[in-house]
Parts: sequence; C-alpha cells; structure tokens
Amino acid sequence: MPDLTSNCAAIVSPNPFWLASAPPTNSGAQIMRAFDAGWGGAVWKTLGQPIQNVSSRFGAIRWKGASGVGFNNIELITDRPLETNFREIAEVKKRFPKNAVIVSLMVETREEWKEIIARSIDAGADGLELNFGCPHGMCERGMGSAVGQEPKVNERITSWAREFSTIPVLVKLTPNVGDIRPHGLAAKRGGAHGVSLINTIKSIIGVDLDRMVPMPRVGGASTNGGYCGAAVRPIALHMVAALAREPGFGIPISGIGGITNWRDAVEFMVLGAANVQVCTEVMLRGYRIVEDMIEGTSSWMRERGFQRLDDFIGSAVPAYTEWGDLDLNYETVAKIDASTCIGCQLCMVACHDGAHQCIHPSPDPAVRVPVVDEAECVGCNLCQIVCPVPGCIDLVPVENGFSPATWNDHVHGGAALRPKKGAH
Ligand SMILES: Cc1cc2nc3c(=O)[nH]c(=O)nc-3n(C[C@H](O)[C@H](O)[C@H](O)COP(=O)(O)O)c2cc1C
Ligand code: SF4
Ligand code: SF4
Repeated sequence: MPDLTSNCAAIVSPNPFWLASAPPTNSGAQIMRAFDAGWGGAVWKTLGQPIQNVSSRFGAIRWKGASGVGFNNIELITDRPLETNFREIAEVKKRFPKNAVIVSLMVETREEWKEIIARSIDAGADGLELNFGCPHGMCERGMGSAVGQEPKVNERITSWAREFSTIPVLVKLTPNVGDIRPHGLAAKRGGAHGVSLINTIKSIIGVDLDRMVPMPRVGGASTNGGYCGAAVRPIALHMVAALAREPGFGIPISGIGGITNWRDAVEFMVLGAANVQVCTEVMLRGYRIVEDMIEGTSSWMRERGFQRLDDFIGSAVPAYTEWGDLDLNYETVAKIDASTCIGCQLCMVACHDGAHQCIHPSPDPAVRVPVVDEAECVGCNLCQIVCPVPGCIDLVPVENGFSPATWNDHVHGGAALRPKKGAH
C-alpha cells in the first residue's frame, strides 16, 4: 500500500484529503464523523465575530440531470459562539490527535488577530488559515476578498499572523483577481508558510423569472455570491499551476476548487498542490466520497510505481508553458474506429457547424460511419469531445516532415512553419 501521509507546510495528516472551511466543518461533531469516514484533515468553518446569516443562501446549476455542477452561496463565516467552537476544536484534537485541524480565521484589527490566534493555538490547532477570500458580505466589512485583492494589506495581515503564531500559517487566496501571482507572492513576503486556493468566485447563479429576482432569493432581493463546485475546477487548476511554476514562489499550495473524486485531486497535485481541500462535493454527496479518493489515489500510485506523494507532486508543472513555446508543427488528425462507431453522426454535425466541415457521410448510403477528410482536418478535438463512445475517435499524430518550431522560434529565429490547414 503506497504511503499517503501528507505534509503541507509542516502540517502533517494521514492523507492529503482535507475538508475545506465551509458547512461540512461547522462543528466538532461533524468533523469527528468526517475523520471517522477517512478525511485526513479539516479546515474549521471560518471563525471571527459570529454573524447572522440570510435565508435562503445557496443556489446551483443543474445541467443535464446532474445537480450542483456549479454551486453558489451567500453564507458568511461562523454563526456559532467562539467559546463553543474552541471547546469543540479541543475535543476533536483530543479524540483525533493524528488528523490535522486547521482553524480558519477572519477578523479586522491587529488586536483581534492576536487574540483569536492565541485562542486557536490554545485549543490545539495544527495550523491556521487566514481567510482573505470570501467575496460577499465580509468584503463589504473590509475583510475577506477585500484583503485578498490588495497585496499590501494581504502582506501586512499575514505578517501580523506570523508574529503572533507559533504554528504554520496558510493564506487562503481569492480568485477574484486578474493574476493570482502578485497575491501569492504578497502572502509569501508576509511570511506565510503556504497558501490555499481557490476561495469562491464572485457570481450570480441565475434569476427567478416569475419574481424578477436573482437567486438565491432573500425575500424580494438577492446579492452576488461565491461560485464553486466542479465548474470552477479549470480556473482553480490554472491558478494553482500559475503559482507552482512562478520563479521564487516556492511555498506549499493547498489546492481547492471543484474537486469531486480521486482523479481531480491527483490533477491538482501533479500541477503543484501539496494536498487538496473539498467543500461542494461533500455538501452534495457526503463525507463518504473520501473512500473513492483514498482507494483511487492508492491504486493509481501502485500502477505507476509511486511510493509516496512527493514522487508525483508537481510532475506536470514543467509541461505547463506559454502559448508561444508550443510546437506549431505538431499536427494531428481525427480517426474514427469503424468497429466501435454507433453511427450517431454527432461528430459530423459538430465538425460541420463548429469546426472545419471535414467529416462527411459515407459514400455508401447503407453505412452510417462517417468519413474524415484528413487533408482538411485541423485536429481541433471537437468531434472527439462530442462522440458518445469512449475511444471511438482518436487524434493521431501526422508525420509532416517539419521539425518542431514554436511561435517564439519562428518570430525570433525564422523557423519554418508547416502550411496551414483549413484557412482557405
Ligand atoms: C456554503 C459555503 C460556505 C463557505 N464558507 C467558507 C468559509 O467560511 N471560509 C472559507 O474560507 N471558505 C468558505 N467557503 C469556500 C470553500 O471553502 C471553498 O474554498 C470553495 O467552495 C471551493 O471549493 P469547492 O469547489 O470544493 O466547493 C464556503 C463555500 C461554500 C459553498
Ligand atoms: S460521434 Fe462517434 S459514434 Fe457517433 S458517428 Fe461520430 S464517430 Fe461514430
Ligand atoms: S478534429 Fe476538428 S476538424 Fe478534424 S474532424 Fe474533428 S472536428 Fe473536424
């Protein structure tokens, strides 16, 4: 059995699967059930001055029968008394000394940070996560993403936390910025031991067209909320990878955003995350999803011969590059496997209306398998994406006689580019 022990910024947990700060980590009783189910760590629902929440507060995108492909909330931080939270943190740590309990924090003044950090450490927290990400409600009060969007403020508050803390400090970043890198670097300058990302994306999930009110509806009005769930995973993956390959960054990343299963988790880790955190998928399907994450990751590691997480963390980062460094002479064409094709012709419609009009009906009217005109195919992938039969369409490399050449090679060194297809 491969060793799943995780070390993120010196916070050690039995596996890299943590619950993100959110409703599944609202109370000690919940977190203890989660640890019994197999979660390696949990980031406690953000503590600060307890708030009053609105009703209702969640919304979701339902798409082709799947509920919660994208999820939205206008919930704030904890609404429970701080004494209760700290008592429960101590209870959880007593019963589960090996699991990681990270306390998420959001307060305003230097004195408040000092006090709440001391109380978190006294309660037995293994680490702190500074919530600089909440994009609704708290930012109007000068906290959350209002801090995360201002590198100077981020750096200053992080440095306070470092001054007051004897345990590791993670800074949770907001994705509501044009470029994540200055914000990760600001946290590093402030002394953060690591960063976690992403928090939720500012959004409106939809509109109730009968009442003419955006959702989720609070009486006759609504407000922008935070978007999360599977739909945000590509954005989160990009931001994690952008920081992982940023020269001079070099502190651990806890990857969050749209993780639903072991494969998603591994994708974050190969793009540079030391571990992962999950919220929406647990809200929708329960703590039990961690079983798939543990079993799936372990068996993938066994197949690949990996003994421990460090054997693969970051291994896809070198392959993430700028567009100008991609090989323009690399060429593929679509090939249809006639033995598995069911003749639905979805590929033909997609190629005709959305690509390069190079999949045609078979000349034999009795045959439903379409034909690819390889001389015209630009290898865009669209047909493969719409094909309902896995593996039926493959994108096969073409030997075109041209040496690899990037746009940068071409512009700066005059490297020869293959003739364009489909541009007549
Ligand atoms: C209902 C809800 C409440 C949340 N509350 C918090 C919070 O208190 N503190 C925090 O740092 N993040 C909070 N988040 C953000 C999550 O921790 C996480 O960063 C985000 O949802 C992306 O992960 P996911 O796609 O797995 O949900 C909340 C998310 C949801 C859906
Ligand atoms: S979409 Fe796939 S299964 Fe359908 S006709 Fe095209 S190749 Fe065949
Ligand atoms: S790869 Fe693109 S251009 Fe080629 S057949 Fe498929 S959809 Fe058409």
